[in-house]
Amino acid sequence: MKPIHVGLCGVGTVGGGTATVLKRNCEEIARRAGRPIVIRAAANRDLERARALVGADVELYDDALQIARHPQIDIVVELIGGTTIAKEVVLTAIEQGKHVVTANKKLIAEYGNEIFARAQEKGVMVAFEAAVAGGVPIIKALREGLTANKIEWVAGIINGTSNFILTEMRDKGAAFADVLAEAQRLGYAEADPTFDIEGHDAAHKLTIMSAIAFGIPVQFDKAYLEGISTLQAADIKYAQELGYRIKLLGVTRRRAEGIELRVAPTLIPAKRLIANVDGVMNAVLVKGDAVGATLYYGPGAGAEPTASSVIADLVDITRLATADPEHRVPHLAFQPSALADLPI
Ligand code: NDP
Ligand code: HSE
Repeated sequence: MKPIHVGLCGVGTVGGGTATVLKRNCEEIARRAGRPIVIRAAANRDLERARALVGADVELYDDALQIARHPQIDIVVELIGGTTIAKEVVLTAIEQGKHVVTANKKLIAEYGNEIFARAQEKGVMVAFEAAVAGGVPIIKALREGLTANKIEWVAGIINGTSNFILTEMRDKGAAFADVLAEAQRLGYAEADPTFDIEGHDAAHKLTIMSAIAFGIPVQFDKAYLEGISTLQAADIKYAQELGYRIKLLGVTRRRAEGIELRVAPTLIPAKRLIANVDGVMNAVLVKGDAVGATLYYGPGAGAEPTASSVIADLVDITRLATADPEHRVPHLAFQPSALADLPI
């Protein structure tokens, strides 16, 4: 069958992982998608590094907009990060009638309303499973698995870097700065790690989950956020002596006054499941009125876990784009509802 052509923008940690997994598991992925998914072109600043990761048969550009405008590309995968060139690439791809996959939580949390509106007008899909909790398919769970439920609350450890730091400080007495440097070396941290340690990254992810769970627009500017950078080794030690663990927790819930949205270091009794989520692992608890409480757990960052989510979106879009467009459900876009703009 005719392959679906992907244009990869950004061949770094996640882009490299995506190229590797797509190549390694190409047969299984083609079977599940119904067609081969092939990287036809890629863009990166460092072309030599990109060449080594994507292979000799892929067209390479140093300007990602060339991919967004490339006439043979069906799906643009944005893995550059940030909200300058990444936003331009995503909006250009949509204007060109291309579907988009992104792992960029900052972009979706801050500009998602504009992006989804344009995508809906142009009849294309924008998917972002990898933007929340790395390899944990929490977007799919919220949107599809739990679709029968009225969601009461969502709570989770959704930043791998800060959870890794807190775990290493607690278990090994490691210094904050040393563990952060290790998280950067392992490819977990954001290009600007302040986003990880000051709670911005977790708040971006919480904002996205909140929008899906409660059917509201993305409202990152309404989130309360507090990070882990002011925590001392002594705080972690005293918490442990009292039978608690400190976790950077994101919580969003439906309240009478509106939707609560907050990220902060939180004391959790050590015997709770979520208190034992360590290292780069993420965990998200979701309470639905029909199902009760459910838990989703797995690696929250890193090249191949995140690639797993990027490729899941590629497979979903390939299936939907190949199906009769009249029967396609535009389920990848948010549906703003009456809850919009409630105070948070
Ligand atoms: P990296 O910094 O490793 O990769 C980004 C890549 O984009 C680099 O190769 C960079 O090239 C390239 N790039 C930067 N600017 C341009 C440009 N103008 N044109 C073309 N290429 C460019 O980041 P990650 O892979 O870690 O993250 C990518 C996205 O995925 C981010 O949005 C991040 O938040 C998200 N994410 C990351 C996860 C992770 O575990 N790392 C997990 C989940 C989501 P160069 O190196 O030459 O500058
Ligand atoms: N910097 C992010 C984290 C990457 O540490 O969780 C995954 O989104």
